[in-house]
Amino acid sequence: MRRAVFTLLGPRSSTKQLVKSVASLQSRTVSTKVKDEIKRWDVSIPVERASTPPSSWFLDPEIYQLERSAVFAKNWICVGRKDQVAQNGQYFSGMVAGEPYIVVRDGDTLRGFFNVCRHHAAQLTPLCGQGCTDKFVCPYHGWTYALNGRLTKAMRLKGIQDFKAKDFGLKPIQVGELGPLIFINLSEDTVDGVETVFQTPHVRLQEKGYLDLSWVKRVEYPMKCNWKVFVDNYLDGGYHVEYLHPALTSNLDISTYKTTVTDMYSIQEAKGNDQSDKRIGQSSLYIYMYPSVMINKYGPWMDTNMVIPTGANSCTVVYDYFLENEMINNMSDADLQLFITESLKASDQVQQEDNMICESVQTGLESSAYDVGRYAPGVEMADHAFHRTLAKQLQAHV
Ligand code: FES
Ligand SMILES: [Fe+2]
Repeated sequence: MRRAVFTLLGPRSSTKQLVKSVASLQSRTVSTKVKDEIKRWDVSIPVERASTPPSSWFLDPEIYQLERSAVFAKNWICVGRKDQVAQNGQYFSGMVAGEPYIVVRDGDTLRGFFNVCRHHAAQLTPLCGQGCTDKFVCPYHGWTYALNGRLTKAMRLKGIQDFKAKDFGLKPIQVGELGPLIFINLSEDTVDGVETVFQTPHVRLQEKGYLDLSWVKRVEYPMKCNWKVFVDNYLDGGYHVEYLHPALTSNLDISTYKTTVTDMYSIQEAKGNDQSDKRIGQSSLYIYMYPSVMINKYGPWMDTNMVIPTGANSCTVVYDYFLENEMINNMSDADLQLFITESLKASDQVQQEDNMICESVQTGLESSAYDVGRYAPGVEMADHAFHRTLAKQLQAHV
């Protein structure tokens, strides 16, 4: 079993926080100061005249808490990969919006549960881990649950009254699959499926062969910036590429950069410059799915980026790299290893450059010299669309 895979939205909460329902999170009282800050961004102002959200959105712990309930507990959040739960009994666990969850393969059915024992609230598995099991046995007093969440065993309950085991199964969470990825949605309401919300990105990625890939490697980057700083960096329509990533610029034809935006996703695409560059290939597709996952398909590669808030001014970005099966099958082991090593090195360089600038931005956001900025309207429309969707969800909550 591997520990510390990732924790969505923050380090381990106290036991009291863990048993809070999503509903109670949603009714959290919001201070007048935060309400005013949230309302400062007017969703009706077009990108040409709009300012960026106030720096408080990237700094204030209360706004970070608000995002848990208004955003991360309401939307489809990417939490892992299908290959992690391919076999019966395979599971992984983590945290989203302060809520511990388990995703498990139960025969043909993929299930999600709150990772909270119905006895005294302990986690059934390590908070962030993965493994394979035929049942979940609570490490505290041994209450045992089947893979479908049913309570099947609870010792020493002689004399208990008004108790029916069938009422004490694990609480379910909505789970969805999109291509090679797994999403969960903590909403207590029935919501549109992840494949409905992200139908167009799914079709575009299918055309690019994302169903015929094998997972290669996971790399995690802890960052000293608010999660939205990383998202903003990703969504600026290639604006930063020629300045921040000079090595990448030579491989991408920036003049072909095209951005399509909607409320829930954006698609950025560009053609490759150097057709001999196997890593980038002829074209690149960069897809952002609100709020916190990106899927990048270029050449034979795909990488996915899960942006995991870990505090108001920190996050971790989890990169999963996939490679086309055709390339894996047609290259010698030695050539393949060399190609993988060099490609991951190039990707790491881009990520290090983005890390550096995101941490620089966070430092600037904390400065008294900065409150709001502006958008370059011809390129930063996806940033504006992201802020608009976020503002709508936050404003509906205060
Ligand atoms: S807390 Fe799980 S059995 Fe007691
Ligand atoms: Fe970048």
